[in-house]
Amino acid sequence: MPDLSQDLAGIHLCSPLIAAAGTAGYGPELASVDGLRGLGAVVTKSITLESRTGNPPMRVTDLQCGMMNAVGLANVGLDRFIAETALTIRDLPIPAIPSIAGGSIDDYEQVAAAMQAMAFVKAVEVNVSCPNTDDGRAFAESPESLQSLLVDIRSVLKRTAMIVKLPLDFGKPSAAAEVAVEAGADALTIMNTVPAMAIDVRTRRSRLGRMAGGASGPGIHPLAVRMVADVHRDVAGPAGVPIIGLGGVMRWQDAAEFILAGASMVGIGTALFVDPRRPRKILKGLTRWVRSQGCQRLDELVGAMER
Ligand SMILES: Cc1cc2nc3c(=O)[nH]c(=O)nc-3n(C[C@H](O)[C@H](O)[C@H](O)COP(=O)(O)O)c2cc1C
Repeated sequence: MPDLSQDLAGIHLCSPLIAAAGTAGYGPELASVDGLRGLGAVVTKSITLESRTGNPPMRVTDLQCGMMNAVGLANVGLDRFIAETALTIRDLPIPAIPSIAGGSIDDYEQVAAAMQAMAFVKAVEVNVSCPNTDDGRAFAESPESLQSLLVDIRSVLKRTAMIVKLPLDFGKPSAAAEVAVEAGADALTIMNTVPAMAIDVRTRRSRLGRMAGGASGPGIHPLAVRMVADVHRDVAGPAGVPIIGLGGVMRWQDAAEFILAGASMVGIGTALFVDPRRPRKILKGLTRWVRSQGCQRLDELVGAMER
């Protein structure tokens, strides 16, 4: 049996598959439908300093190529996360990685510091790229603002790994990734949803409760594969920083593509809404694929695309 386990900044993952932020609740929700098998870790929905009710309905809509959401970072807020949610996720059979978000650097710092204070939290994922809130995209909009944010969070996270979740790249293909690696990211998640819009042509209104949202699912997969390949080649590969490839993984072949492009781990989001037990099927297919490629370890195939 080939070895598909991975090391994420010192955290042992029994599988390279990770449930994506916001698509598995805080983790226990996915566990309640027997959805954790096949996964190596679960990322929580993004936590902000204050609780957020999120955007008005409709918050999700289907697309021919996936789905679109404008949930708007609805979450319980830091205090309730610590008092209630953390108690349920620390006992999950796989590591839970809190995702953090905020409207200001100070917000992020406070949430990061509180996460680090909890012993079971070995890594946090920094969401700098949510397109669903008025303030959520600010930090990813320029290399300078991204750098100020990440340098500050890094200084707070002394013994906790910092995973930076990037949007579809701005400007030069790997500018955001360069900033994140220079700021000390231990891993990169590529990528968040893609800013998108869908219009109901009868009512002439947005199909979501706000004008725009974020597209996810199969339609964004090739965009994410390209970005993973560029970032792996130019930035993350040379720096030895692992990538979590995320976007449109519905089948094991999609996950295998990410691995060949340079991802060491693969996130699964939209597919969990279609079938919360999809990860175990994807892991099975990936395992067979690694063997069929004549490899003992998944690592041998990371970035192994013929160029
Ligand atoms: C309903 C929904 C809620 C999401 N919430 C968050 C979130 O709270 N934080 C975050 O960083 N990403 C969030 N995402 C983005 C996903 O983590 C992921 O980056 C994106 O959906 C692309 O992956 P996929 O095509 O496999 O779904 C959300 C996505 C969806 C569909």
